Amino acid sequence: MAPSQPRQPLAEASIRIDSHLDGSHERSLAEDVLDGLTRPFKELPPKHFYDARGAELFDRICELPEYYPTRAERAILEQSADELSTLTNAVELVELGSGTAAKTRVLLDALDAAGTLERYIPVDVTESMVRDCAEALAQEYPGLRVHGVIGDFERHLDRVPPATGPRIVAFLGGTIGNFPPGSRRRVLRQIARLLGPADHLLMGTDLVKDPRVLEAAYDDAQGVTANFNRNVLRVINRELQADFDPEDFDHVALFDPHNEWIEMRLRARREHTTLVRDLDLPVHFDAGEELRTEISAKFTPERLQGDLAAAGLELVRWLTDPDELFALSLSRLSSR
Ligand code: SAH
Ligand code: TRP
Repeated sequence: MAPSQPRQPLAEASIRIDSHLDGSHERSLAEDVLDGLTRPFKELPPKHFYDARGAELFDRICELPEYYPTRAERAILEQSADELSTLTNAVELVELGSGTAAKTRVLLDALDAAGTLERYIPVDVTESMVRDCAEALAQEYPGLRVHGVIGDFERHLDRVPPATGPRIVAFLGGTIGNFPPGSRRRVLRQIARLLGPADHLLMGTDLVKDPRVLEAAYDDAQGVTANFNRNVLRVINRELQADFDPEDFDHVALFDPHNEWIEMRLRARREHTTLVRDLDLPVHFDAGEELRTEISAKFTPERLQGDLAAAGLELVRWLTDPDELFALSLSRLSSR
């Protein structure tokens, strides 16, 4: 190359983004609203929290004094990243529900230091998250190829590009806990299909503990989580021309000791009917009626191993923080 010729900026050359949503996400919101808000016990799946505003609120949740999972998971990553790098020899990292990939950098640093890292593949439903994260990481890790996938990890995992060498599929933040037990195993089975014999799943799960600690983590003093919970109503207002007043609902976070999960609900403060115009759907709420917006399952090592086994996976390492608040599990396809 002639010395005067400007080099193409590496960051641009090394980014590829595929989008698999083109309208189908809005369609899935419409279906979920139609299905979920006409049930005897109203319910919505949690993926619709995360528009740009929801994503920003989630980032603030991660900084809250009450929300320990992010700090605990980061501590485990910091303590174990080198071991994970040695165990996996990974040349690429696929991350499901990557968000801002804040903690992921700890792992990328270790793989980068080991000299194996070639490619990062963030997968998220929130388009702005995938684009911003791809841009930032390509800048921060010169030479890293970033292949972002904008899509739903319940529907689009077959669009994740094939592995080019040993890979880690990371599923952090306890997001697997947001699926009820049956769907959780279905999702894990789909994820297992991304793995070959040389690959690993690295998954973050929150652990069973004192209900007061759990409930505080989902009902913080500043009301950020309450605001995040109500954000799903703003998403429906905008996307489906509904007229929810988020202030008509109280935020409720309760630990269910039988199922060992946190339930997040929105409780109507007064009787009212909301019109979802795009669906021509009136939705009636009694005073005190609750809409379930999320569960967040808490794990024991036994429960996790049962779920992994049901998906054809076996545990390689179980890693926790010193206070045993949170766990990272490294697993691979079962040899049997
Ligand atoms: N991994 C990050 C973010 C967790 S928040 C962390 O540990 O902090 C959950 C993330 O998963 C959000 O970025 C959200 O947009 C994404 N997400 C939720 N449901 C999804 C789905 N069905 N498909 C793809 N991404 C999803
Ligand atoms: N995966 C996170 C968790 O279960 C998501 C989350 C944290 C969340 N706080 C929330 C979802 C509040 C809805 C409302 O911990």
